[in-house]
Amino acid sequence: MIVTGLSLETLSILVGSVVALRALQLFLDFRRLLANIHHLPGHRTILSSSTVLGRLLPPTPLLILGHDHFWLLKHGPFAERGLDIISAVACWPKAMGSMLIADVNVIKDIVWSRGERFPKPLGQYTVLTFFGENIIASEGNEWKRYRKVVAPGFSEKNKRLVWDATTQIMLDLFDTMWAGQEEVVVNHSVDLTFPDDVIPLGHQLTFKDALRTVTQDLTLTILVPRWAMGLTKSFRRARLAFDELHRYLTEMIHERQESKDEEDNNDLLSSLVSANDNENLSKGEVRLSDSELIGKLQFQTLAEHDYITTAHALSFAFALLALHPDKQEEMYQHIKHVLSDGRIPTYDDMPSLTYSSAVFNEALRMFPPVCAVPKSSAEDTTFTLTDVNGTLKTVVVPKGLDLILDVPGLHYNPKYWEDPFAFKPERFLGDWNRDAFLAFSGGYRGCAGRKFAETEGAAVLTILISQYIISIKDEPQFAGETYEQRKARVLDARSMLTLAPTRLPLVFRRRT
Ligand code: HEM
Repeated sequence: MIVTGLSLETLSILVGSVVALRALQLFLDFRRLLANIHHLPGHRTILSSSTVLGRLLPPTPLLILGHDHFWLLKHGPFAERGLDIISAVACWPKAMGSMLIADVNVIKDIVWSRGERFPKPLGQYTVLTFFGENIIASEGNEWKRYRKVVAPGFSEKNKRLVWDATTQIMLDLFDTMWAGQEEVVVNHSVDLTFPDDVIPLGHQLTFKDALRTVTQDLTLTILVPRWAMGLTKSFRRARLAFDELHRYLTEMIHERQESKDEEDNNDLLSSLVSANDNENLSKGEVRLSDSELIGKLQFQTLAEHDYITTAHALSFAFALLALHPDKQEEMYQHIKHVLSDGRIPTYDDMPSLTYSSAVFNEALRMFPPVCAVPKSSAEDTTFTLTDVNGTLKTVVVPKGLDLILDVPGLHYNPKYWEDPFAFKPERFLGDWNRDAFLAFSGGYRGCAGRKFAETEGAAVLTILISQYIISIKDEPQFAGETYEQRKARVLDARSMLTLAPTRLPLVFRRRT
């Protein structure tokens, strides 16, 4: 017994010593990292938010920032420290640090220097490569190749097509599902932008359901190994959605490969498929398999991009207009003025429909779908900027450090946006600071689909507001709430991969 007791004691001393040594090592690494960034003020936590655990845990002071912190804290942490660059350093699972940036000139410097100085930290993009490599999660020559392949898809001709298709979809919605209804009630605005459609033969989910589930359950799909995906109902649902999406994409590729009709072949997917045709490949380029094509496709043609980012931005625009009836009326009067004969707007009207574009931009400023754009520093360097007192400061950046372009930090920075929490679409009429608007990132790696999203946003808002008045749905359980409480409730948002409204119940009343 004594022997066992001794060995137990020895064992606990051993374990205790290992733990203490590890803790000491982490602490020393943490101190070294702080010294490397010259103790730039900022967040200090035990756990890093970029780990799997960090993604799941709620924000807890000193323990974890929470992956949502960019959205939740906005410009607050910069204002607190009086400087538009702050640091975020954590010590577990290893000493990890990054700099968060909300200064226009520093951001311009980063996005306009070629990939070699401030490349994307590709390790942080693994979450986006669940179907394979793709344009967003690539760098250097690989990225150049993708960008060359997708470029023809983003033509002026296709922008016109986006406008025509969007207006047609909206008019069809009014003439079919909404026909004969004075008021249309939508319990969550995202359901409007994801209208249900029929499940095609050979499928178990609609394309939209599969897409929505895959993006919502992305963390699950990545964390849970394939063999365990049959264990619970929600795992099985995620697995089914993932398989269905893969099936849909394969079918879409085959359709494009088989279609000889020019009209069917001028979208992004078609340009990828056609660039992969044997006769269009440059010498030495290898033809991709369907699976590889799916990987290359997934981000730019669907998932977050085309679809969800724009849909969410529109949902927030609806909510903001509903909460500000005076601005909604101003927008309506503006549309009536541009389309004085009551005709349906065409693509050529877009430059005149400035108020619609301004509302879309203001929604994107206040609710940027992508809250953090990661970069890294490939060399030891410095940034120079002025602090809150106008004093010039130099920030030392060691090679290899992660840099985060903090989009809400920039969009709510009062230095660039007067009264940043107020919904003021008119700030986007006339002259505005384009460098302080980062919803589409910027520079060489800015969003390739920006013009498409802007076209779709302006078209949806114009058609909708010209025929309907948007308001927030009255619900008995919220009868006693004040305007501010209602605003906070309906504008509540969650940032997983992109920012989405939590629950946004709306009413669309037909104009008389
Ligand atoms: C409101 C809607 C949209 C927003 C807010 C948005 C935002 C962004 C952001 C922030 C990035 C940079 C991501 C990073 O560096 O990690 C990006 C990249 C990209 N976006 Fe979008 N996007 C939108 C819509 C679209 C649409 C409609 C398309 C395609 C039709 C698209 C295609 C792309 C592509 C291809 C890239 C990668 C560009 C590159 O790395 O060279 N986006 N987008």
